[in-house]
Amino acid sequence: MESQKAGVSHYNDTVVRQFSIMAVVWGVVGMLVGVIIAAQLTWPELNFGIPWLSYGRLRPLHTNAVIFAFGGCGLFATSYYVVQRTCQTRLFCGPLAAFTFWGWQLVIVAAAISLPLGYTSGKEYAELEWPIDILIALVWVAYAIVFFGTVGMRKVKHIYVANWFFGAFILAVALLHIVNSAAIPAGWMKSYSAYAGVQDAMVQWWYGHNAVGFFLTTGFLGMMYYFVPKQAGRPVYSYRLSIVHFWALIFTYMWAGPHHLHYTALPDWTQSVGMVFSLILLAPSWGGMINGMMTLSGAWHKLRDDPVLRFLIVSLSFYGMSTFEGPMMSIKTVNALSHYTDWTVGHVHAGALGWVGLITMGSLYYLVPRLFGRGDKMYSTKAIELHFWMSTIGIVLYIAAMWIAGVMQGLMWRAVNPDGTLTYTFVESVKATYPFYAIRLVGGLLYLGGMVIMAWNVWMTAISGRSVQVSIPAAQTAHA
Ligand code: HEM
Ligand code: HEM
Repeated sequence: MESQKAGVSHYNDTVVRQFSIMAVVWGVVGMLVGVIIAAQLTWPELNFGIPWLSYGRLRPLHTNAVIFAFGGCGLFATSYYVVQRTCQTRLFCGPLAAFTFWGWQLVIVAAAISLPLGYTSGKEYAELEWPIDILIALVWVAYAIVFFGTVGMRKVKHIYVANWFFGAFILAVALLHIVNSAAIPAGWMKSYSAYAGVQDAMVQWWYGHNAVGFFLTTGFLGMMYYFVPKQAGRPVYSYRLSIVHFWALIFTYMWAGPHHLHYTALPDWTQSVGMVFSLILLAPSWGGMINGMMTLSGAWHKLRDDPVLRFLIVSLSFYGMSTFEGPMMSIKTVNALSHYTDWTVGHVHAGALGWVGLITMGSLYYLVPRLFGRGDKMYSTKAIELHFWMSTIGIVLYIAAMWIAGVMQGLMWRAVNPDGTLTYTFVESVKATYPFYAIRLVGGLLYLGGMVIMAWNVWMTAISGRSVQVSIPAAQTAHA
């Protein structure tokens, strides 16, 4: 299907189609597990006494599924699409690209089996055991070869800024994964970290924070720099700012990890360095957000009747919100209140549902009709509209409930009577949180409902269209 015919070469969109479809499938699965654990926090009996349905096993299944399966497939799909279009060349080494697809699906299936069975390395966002870690490393190296190989074969002199973001994401994730997963095997599904004590914690949160910075942010900024201008029909607001944004962001993120370890055994100065770099991080984050938003200058009216553009732009407002909140939470005195509470979970989902979720969905709504020969028309625009409102209302319910619950928990835990005893027992704070868990569940159901509608719309678009071959243009001026 992707053959070179009569001297005309085509983009390799097979792998883009595969990753796009699987992003939607894993999105539904990962969010469904999110809804199940949200329900379990409301009604703990919902684990039915079955070990593999227990909260402790399903929670990492949720985080791995939404971040690495949904987010990961979205990133593979968009980066492969964007790098070909902006370099005006076919993807380097087709078989290796196919390997990244099948290898990544194998990683996901292995995670979906091993996590409920209770196999875990115990490191958050890096729970998978060493044989799966090795497979991840292999797939990731193949991804780097395909991506940078394509950049190397480009027919245009310039490397468009979206590729810088995708490239940094690929390199940084390789580094983070390999360093943090270093372990001594003690059986086929058991290992011990190569680090010990506070160093282990430090390496883990250097990884954890940069998983946020590079997996959940930098790659998605790559999406922003391609799909926002495309959908808006406008060039990037400031190309110069995008370059400053890139270097400032990737330099600053690397140092902020210790804000996850405030008031721990980690040396105090390290915590302060983490806090200072987190505060500095506000500047590049907002620089990038403003660059994306201002791309709409003179085209704001398009937001009124283009739901896809609305997905992309609203995602940027959530990005702005969560990257303001994060630096605030990294201030030690604020963190003394927020840490261990549901405020953190609210912050996570402002970024995850609002930024990562919406930008991925917007980008996929751009991609899918084009990949299936339907121009720029999804099967149903009304369904996109409905999806947009369901997810936006869902996010607001989710994060508002968690903010109120979080601040309330923090205040209850620190309240003391004049004689120095605690005003509230822990269980009183759990009881007070109950209604907010129910509201979060409703928000999650709405968000999941929107995703199911998207899956239907993508399916209808795919079966009513056909897999098309797009020729690589001979002229090498515009970003096709
Ligand atoms: C300038 C940007 C940001 C800064 C400085 C920042 C800072 C923070 C801080 C201080 C915490 C709480 C740590 C704790 O008390 O345990 C946190 C947690 C977290 N943030 Fe952010 N944040 C930023 C942006 C984001 C974005 C955009 C996302 C998601 C897309 C995100 C995802 C997370 C996650 C997943 C956690 C929870 C980690 C865990 O404990 O498992 N952050 N962040
Ligand atoms: C239907 C949508 C979703 C629901 C109902 C949901 C629900 C939940 C729940 C109940 C938790 C556990 C909170 C706790 O332990 O107290 C959680 C954790 C988490 N979820 Fe989601 N989630 C959803 C979507 C997403 C998406 C799309 C992402 C990422 C792209 C995401 C990333 C995370 C992360 C990183 C954590 C760990 C937070 C931490 O350790 O502080 N979630 N989610």
